[in-house]
Amino acid sequence: MSDNKNDAPRSAPACEIVPERMTIEPFTMVIFGGSGDLSRRKLLPTLFHLCHDQDLPDNFAIIGFASTARTDEEYRALVKEAIEEFGDNEIHPDCWDHFSKNLYYVAGAFDDENSYRKLSQRLAEVSPPTEKGVKKVLYYMAVPPQNLPSIFERLSFCNLCKGTFDTRLIIEKPFGRDRQSAAELNTLVSKSFDEKQVYRIDHYLGKETVQNILFFRFANSIFEPLWNRRYIDHVQITVAESLGIENRARFYENASVVRDIVQNHLLQLLALVAMEPPIDLEADNIRSEKVKVYRTIRAMDEEYIDRFTVRGQYGSGEVNGSDSASYRDEKDIADNSITSTFFAGKFHIDNWRWAGVPFYLRTGKRLKKRITEISIHFKQPPLRLFSSTCEIREPNILVLGVQPHEEISLHIGVKHPGIGNQLYPVNMNFNYEKDLQGDIHFPLPYERLLLDCMKGDQTLFARQDGVEAMWTIVDPIIKRWESTHAPEFPNYKAGSWGPAKADELLATDGRQWRIS
Ligand SMILES: NC(=O)c1ccc[n+]([C@@H]2O[C@H](COP(=O)([O-])OP(=O)(O)OC[C@H]3O[C@@H](n4cnc5c(N)ncnc54)[C@H](OP(=O)(O)O)[C@@H]3O)[C@@H](O)[C@H]2O)c1
Repeated sequence: MSDNKNDAPRSAPACEIVPERMTIEPFTMVIFGGSGDLSRRKLLPTLFHLCHDQDLPDNFAIIGFASTARTDEEYRALVKEAIEEFGDNEIHPDCWDHFSKNLYYVAGAFDDENSYRKLSQRLAEVSPPTEKGVKKVLYYMAVPPQNLPSIFERLSFCNLCKGTFDTRLIIEKPFGRDRQSAAELNTLVSKSFDEKQVYRIDHYLGKETVQNILFFRFANSIFEPLWNRRYIDHVQITVAESLGIENRARFYENASVVRDIVQNHLLQLLALVAMEPPIDLEADNIRSEKVKVYRTIRAMDEEYIDRFTVRGQYGSGEVNGSDSASYRDEKDIADNSITSTFFAGKFHIDNWRWAGVPFYLRTGKRLKKRITEISIHFKQPPLRLFSSTCEIREPNILVLGVQPHEEISLHIGVKHPGIGNQLYPVNMNFNYEKDLQGDIHFPLPYERLLLDCMKGDQTLFARQDGVEAMWTIVDPIIKRWESTHAPEFPNYKAGSWGPAKADELLATDGRQWRIS
């Protein structure tokens, strides 16, 4: 063994990382909409992947519930096809045998009580008990939102929510389409389930780098003293997609960019950057800190919205070297659609930590490239002592890259070699894939979230008050945009960084988007 320090691996672990093995108790998952798009693309392949990796207990049951008449065998064939098409594991015969023998199907209509009686009977027959004799049942709502009331009412009527089984409810976004409908949905849910039983999934929170924001902030002492209005000039959050709406015309026309991305993903990222340290890592303590951030975001009136938010819709252009049609030329989109596919806005958080520090948020479809990143722009030094080789004097910027590269980099200025006093910008960079050695497995978002539901950990799931607080922030924007004429749509080219007004939003403040 060499004692030469230079031989040490670049990222030698300070302590041995023992992979956490979670013990999951026997459970049954009932997937309402078990044959739909979400189930086939995400849920069923992920459940198979977990089984393949031996993360599931020996005893489990998965029951698909949908209206088309099918036998268990036919459902197993549908699931196998979905895994072949969308899964990332080879289907090993032994693994498939084990997985498939635990798959069942109930054909029924969401609004038909008899279907729930059938389900109840099936649950009694196939759901495995835990060591303590309890039957854990997870209801996954992979269904269009309008079906939820029917399902909750009937589950409750047939005594399937509480009592007979130890149940949890997993709901997919969107959680309502404004604050009022979200509150109504929450009231409906709370008639049948306690908040402790409810898991509102936003798959974004299952991403490793999103979770890492908390670790980065609260496990390192050097940044926390700087993490406030005294040292930070502003924060930028970009969630850019190069894709268009991909056959989701009906959904997108109903939702538009604010409901699709701002209300959930962008505000979740903002909360992780801005929240105070929680007292511990208990789910409710973390979620309470996030809700406090939402409540301190300055409410926007109409004048503010007109001045400090920017909407856009993509026209034709070129994305990644290929011609790209305009939004209005996408399948099933009307020629005169005024749906926004781009958002930029300036947010203020009115608390002691962040007073006076603007948060610029931006998201859009058919932008130049797919990238999600948060950049923290620190203030310039009080005096300019050194000249710069670049025209623009770069401040220190901390970049948290979420996708496509999961990385953290710090931009600093160093002396350029030579006799002059030239300042030169360089990066200190940590990249998950390159810098972590060994066979590291990055769990996919649904993998992590499904395991958390099975374990009973609600940390990465939105809480009722958080969802409503997020709607309270964006409702005025949606209302204003829906009640006033859109600017000349389309107003940005596919493959660009959005409308010129988004650049002006920052330029007026003497700033510019980091990615442009
Ligand atoms: N697709 C995605 O990638 C994705 C991503 C994120 C969130 N989501 C959300 O997930 C939810 C489901 O989306 P999806 O795209 O999977 O929908 P979908 O493809 O339309 O699937 C709907 C499912 O519900 C069943 N169903 C519909 N009406 C029924 C009824 N009256 N009685 C019994 N079964 C009925 C359908 O089965 P039958 O055809 O047999 O009736 C099918 O299994 C939505 O809230 C969506 O916003 C979807």
